[in-house]
Amino acid sequence: MLKRTHTCGRLRLEDAGKKVTLAGWVHSYRDHGNLVFFDLRDREGLTQLVFNPETQPEMHKIARTVRCEWVVAASGLVRPRGPTLENPKLATGQIEVLVEQLEILNTAKTPPFEIGEAEKTSEEVRLVHRYVDLRRPEMQCRLHTRHRVMKIARDYFDRLGFWEIETPMLAKSTPEGARDFLVPSRLQPNCFYALPQSPQLFKQILMVSGVEKYFQIVRCFRDEDPRADRQAEFTQIDVEMSFVDTNDVIGIHENLVAKIWKDILDVDVTTPMRRMSYQDAMANYGIDRPDLRFDLTLKDISDIARQSTFGIFTLVIEKGGVVKGLCAPAGEKYSRSDIEKTLTNFVADYSAKGLSWIRLKNENGKLTFIGGLGKYFSPQLQQQIVERFAAKDGDLLLLVADKEQIANKALAPLRCKIARDLKLYDENSFQFVWVVGFPLFEWNEDEKRYESMHHPFTAPLPEDLDKLDSDPANVRAQAYDIVVNGSEIGGGSIRIHQPKVQQKVFDLLGISRQQAQERFGFFLKALEYGAPPHGGIAFGLDRMIMLLTGTDNIRDVIAFPKTQRGQCLLTDAPSEVDQKQLDELNLRTQKHLRAIEQEEEPSPQG
Ligand code: AMO
Repeated sequence: MLKRTHTCGRLRLEDAGKKVTLAGWVHSYRDHGNLVFFDLRDREGLTQLVFNPETQPEMHKIARTVRCEWVVAASGLVRPRGPTLENPKLATGQIEVLVEQLEILNTAKTPPFEIGEAEKTSEEVRLVHRYVDLRRPEMQCRLHTRHRVMKIARDYFDRLGFWEIETPMLAKSTPEGARDFLVPSRLQPNCFYALPQSPQLFKQILMVSGVEKYFQIVRCFRDEDPRADRQAEFTQIDVEMSFVDTNDVIGIHENLVAKIWKDILDVDVTTPMRRMSYQDAMANYGIDRPDLRFDLTLKDISDIARQSTFGIFTLVIEKGGVVKGLCAPAGEKYSRSDIEKTLTNFVADYSAKGLSWIRLKNENGKLTFIGGLGKYFSPQLQQQIVERFAAKDGDLLLLVADKEQIANKALAPLRCKIARDLKLYDENSFQFVWVVGFPLFEWNEDEKRYESMHHPFTAPLPEDLDKLDSDPANVRAQAYDIVVNGSEIGGGSIRIHQPKVQQKVFDLLGISRQQAQERFGFFLKALEYGAPPHGGIAFGLDRMIMLLTGTDNIRDVIAFPKTQRGQCLLTDAPSEVDQKQLDELNLRTQKHLRAIEQEEEPSPQG
């Protein structure tokens, strides 16, 4: 077999005259009769090969039988293409290799799609033939970026004295909030392991074990419906440290993020990064992961709207709701039907009952309300609204009157849509923020009980400890999320390390002592054996790679992802298993039970 001397991305003009051997896949093929050209592709790039019937008639003959995606090795002479034939789009575009020897290493079936045409191919077809899909240069670049980020993280933590420690994949379920994937135990009939939603309790136990600085690049499993940025099986860069406070954790991790962005994209990230309280994020952006690439903030105008004569507004406010909205700069671009159909339907998807709007026009030197709402607002109230939004001639005010939660839920995505439509930001910029000061608990109205906003092991702010008894809703957590361009790429907290506080939090969450013992008694016990103060964080590696490689589809950054329906189209998982396997696990499927029932039913003939 010909042994390759160079990769397909390596040769330049100065290599002209060298004898080389390349190996790879035939990317494209052009038969000009007298000359045959291939673009040969490996993961490093493309190189043009030429076959000349006069100098190498044998090889030229073989070359004419070759098809796209066949695997070949070729030896020959590097030569300049000549200025008129150069391809400036290719790194190797100034040269070609005149082939003297061609070896076909393998043939290939006609691929289900051309490598260069994958964008036009359905994702389903690409996932079924993932091995072909992954040959695409964009996909190879994503895999490579992912590898590089993991390497940067490992080197970074190693330098700082962190140890990478693996934690079990077959674990006991820990309460991260999502549904568990369960694995039946053969040796312990009727018992199940849970695949870890995160290594949360193990990493905390490692702190009790005196490890001090732990990290792990780890697979996590959550049985949730996949979304554009969510997979049931995803990867975290997971970290835990002892004897630290919030600033220590934030400092180390924002430097890691800055290093990753510098090394991968050559982007300088300013540190320390901006911090924002949860309260400010919700008030100004309607969401705890604000996209700060554009300076479009929400304003609550309930105090002004209350004084108007617009019944819808005054009624909502009387019932405890709010009138909140945003000012779309030069929003005159939206027609009435854009607003009343497209934008109104958009907010309706988030349960908002309506979208009120006001156009602002300069008339006789005065900013005036154009549109139906004007008559409900006195000139003074109109003036106050203009000032609140710092509105200008040609702007469009969009308002939602509803419960605050619904108004925020609808306005936060509307804000992003408006910014996208009006091109208010540079798509290639990155704006980082730490969101801090989250409430420890969230009230679940359906179940009439508190839930943890992060997880039940998050420590309250020391100054709010007293409120655990008197005013739990207003206890703030020592928790922090790192957000980039509206995407939460990581989150963590300082943990509770005193058993008494942990017990108190369980009580508030309505977890009985017995339940706590059953579910994580092992962990509570560990806290009693000298737990140091500790805290940590986990980054969503997949989301980070999405941002670094500019895709909004999480499946693009995972070599073998699952579809929206949780399937791996390549291997056809999940699939049915043999009855023998189920028997060993003491399991019966519904299908099996039905079959047994049918067997037991007496036949109609009696
Ligand atoms: P959390 O649940 O916030 O925290 O997860 C940390 C980060 O992981 C990413 N992430 C996901 N990425 C893809 N698909 C998913 N289904 C998914 N779920 C989460 C997000 C998120 O910010 N144990 C805690 C961390 C800690 O407190 O140290 C935890 O898992 O980017």
